[in-house]
Amino acid sequence: MNTITDATSATVPTRQGLPVIRPERVDGSDIGAIRALTAEAFAKVEHASGTEAKIIDALRDAGELRYSLVAVRAGRIVGHVAASRVTLDPPDGGWWYGIGPLSVHPDFQGQGTGSGLMRALLDLLIVYGATGAVLLGDPSLYARFGFAPHEGLTMAGLAPEQASYFQGLRLDGTVGYPEATVSYSPAFD
Ligand SMILES: CC(C)(COP(=O)(O)OP(=O)(O)OC[C@H]1O[C@@H](n2cnc3c(N)ncnc32)[C@H](O)[C@@H]1OP(=O)(O)O)[C@@H](O)C(=O)NCCC(=O)NCCS
Repeated sequence: MNTITDATSATVPTRQGLPVIRPERVDGSDIGAIRALTAEAFAKVEHASGTEAKIIDALRDAGELRYSLVAVRAGRIVGHVAASRVTLDPPDGGWWYGIGPLSVHPDFQGQGTGSGLMRALLDLLIVYGATGAVLLGDPSLYARFGFAPHEGLTMAGLAPEQASYFQGLRLDGTVGYPEATVSYSPAFD
């Protein structure tokens, strides 16, 4: 992950009303805000586990938080998205990432911040050579980015009735999806 040390970056004027999206700072100064925002964003979400903030901490502690982007508005962190490596069984030799948690503070939802975070993360994954990404979530939210369920690409331990919520997106410009079972980092446990 790149380090941004410019203390003024949090107050860079927004472009077209959108927040600034930057990597989480490596000095730890964003951790508290990310934790609080994630807890607040998921507090009223039905089916949320309530452990989303802890998952991000566990990924970071395990050195598995490969990408961690924050959305900043007027100096305040209002959104966050994480990505970590996932493993495929059987392996396909590629680099696949699991996206999530994705959070926008309730006061700032519906203003394009979540979409902006997702687009920035997908661009970053492409630039750094990812084969593809997977996520678990509402297809009506993620189809706009190209995510879709793919028969044969399944998530380990997922109940069959939730299969349509597990979606993948190739990012390497090739076509077709591997037949494989995807496992997230143990930090998600
Ligand atoms: C989901 C979330 C990150 C979206 O962020 P956001 O900044 O509000 O999203 P945007 O403003 O970019 O809106 C994107 C679109 O997604 C839709 N959307 C927002 N939340 C949605 C949800 N939970 N399910 C389906 N669609 C959703 C919006 O209506 C909008 O659609 P439109 O462009 O057709 O009007 C945010 O609502 C959030 O933090 N929710 C609580 C945590 C959560 O559910 N995270 C996702 C877990 S899978």
